[in-house]
Amino acid sequence: MSDLTALSGLVDPDAPGWSRVALTDFDNAGREWVRQQMAALGLETRIDGAGNVIGRLPGARPELGSIMTGSHTDTVEGGGRYDGIVGVTAALECVRSLRDSGTRLNHDLLVVNFFSEEPNRFGISCIGSRALTGHIKASDMDRLDSESHSFGHALQQVRVDPSALLTARMDMSKVRAFVELHIEQGPHMEEQGSQIGVVSSITGVKRFQAAFRGRPDHAGTTPMDRRQDAGCAAAGTVLAIEQIASSHADGRGTTGLVTFSPEAVNVVTEVANLWGEFRSPDHAWLDDAVRRFEDAAQQEGRARSVTVELDWLPSESPAVMDDALGTLVAQQADRLGLTRSRLYSGAEHDAAIIAKTVPTAMIFVPSHDGRSHCPEEFTNERDVVAGTNVLLNTILQIDSQYGLD
Ligand code: GLV
Ligand code: MN
Ligand code: MN
Repeated sequence: MSDLTALSGLVDPDAPGWSRVALTDFDNAGREWVRQQMAALGLETRIDGAGNVIGRLPGARPELGSIMTGSHTDTVEGGGRYDGIVGVTAALECVRSLRDSGTRLNHDLLVVNFFSEEPNRFGISCIGSRALTGHIKASDMDRLDSESHSFGHALQQVRVDPSALLTARMDMSKVRAFVELHIEQGPHMEEQGSQIGVVSSITGVKRFQAAFRGRPDHAGTTPMDRRQDAGCAAAGTVLAIEQIASSHADGRGTTGLVTFSPEAVNVVTEVANLWGEFRSPDHAWLDDAVRRFEDAAQQEGRARSVTVELDWLPSESPAVMDDALGTLVAQQADRLGLTRSRLYSGAEHDAAIIAKTVPTAMIFVPSHDGRSHCPEEFTNERDVVAGTNVLLNTILQIDSQYGLD
C-alpha cells in the first residue's frame, strides 16, 4: 500500500487526477521508481529496448524457464491510482514475501512493468507487450499526433530508441505462464460481492481514426442544402457508433476525441476528425460492427458530399485466458477463503497480447462503484491484499507444477 501511495506522488501536478501519461517525463519517473524498487529487492533489473522495466528473480532451476507477472504504471490523462499500478506493486510485494520467507522458486520469476499500456496520443496501446512479442510494425513509427510529430520522434523524447523497440522481442518460448493482477474497472464484482475475479477472456478492441473532409463556407449565407459540412457528417457517425454498439449486450462503442476545423463559430466545418473504438468479447459481432460503422460513416459523408477516410489503428481480437491457469487461480481463492466469480474483461490489458504466445491468466479485484479511468477510481486495501495473496499463491502453484515432470 505504501508503494501505491509512493507512485501516486509521481504524477503531473498540473493535470487532473493522477496523471502519469506514457511518453512524458512523469511516466519516465514512475518507471524509474519501479526500477529502483526492483533493484532494492535484489532483482536483476534492466530496461529493454521497448522501455519495459524487467526484474528477474533467479530460480533454483532456471532450465525450467520463467514465470512472468506484472502490469503497467502509465495512466490515462486524469486517471486513478490503481489501474495497472496494483499489478506492478503486487508483483513487487510477491518478491518481497518470497525474499522475507526465504522461499526460492524453481523457475525464474520475471516482473515486468510494461511500457505505454494505455492508448498513447498516437492511438496505440500496449506498446511494451506488443514489442516483447513482436507485434509492432515499423510503419507505426510514422504515425502522427495532433502536432504532426511522429511516434518515433516521441519515443526518442523519452529516451526510447525506435529501432531498439522494433527489435526488443523476447524469447517467449521460455516463459511458462504469465499472470496479471488488475482492478476490474467495472461494477460486476462489487455488485456480486465477489473478492476475486477469474478472467475468462479479454475484450477485442478495434480502434480507428476517421477524417471527414468537406468545404469551408460562410455560416450565414450558405443555404443548408448547399453545404459540405464535415462536422455534421462526423456528428452523424458519432451517433451511429452509439447505435451500433447498443445493439448487443456486450457491444461497446465510444468516440473519445472529436476535432473540427476551422475553429470558428461562423464557418461551416471543413475537416472533422474522430478517434473512437468498438469493443466486444464476441469476435463475429466485432467484425460486423466494424462493417456497419464503415457503411454508416460513408453514408453520412455521401449525404453531404463529404469525403471519409478511415484509418484502423493497431487493434486486438478477443483473447481467451488459459483454462488450467484459471483453475489454479480459482483454487487459490478458495484455499484463502475468498469469494470469487468468473468474468470477461471489458478493459484491454497487456495480458491480451502476451496470451497470443504464452498461457496467461488474469486475477481481478473489485473497483468501487465500477469507476475507472477517472480520479475516483478506488479499490480498498483488503481487496488489494487479497488479490496479491492470490497472485503469490498462483505463482507458487505454477512453480511447483509446471515443467517438473
Ligand atoms: C485500458 O485500460 C483500456 O481498456 O483502454
Ligand atoms: Mn487503463
Ligand atoms: Mn490497466
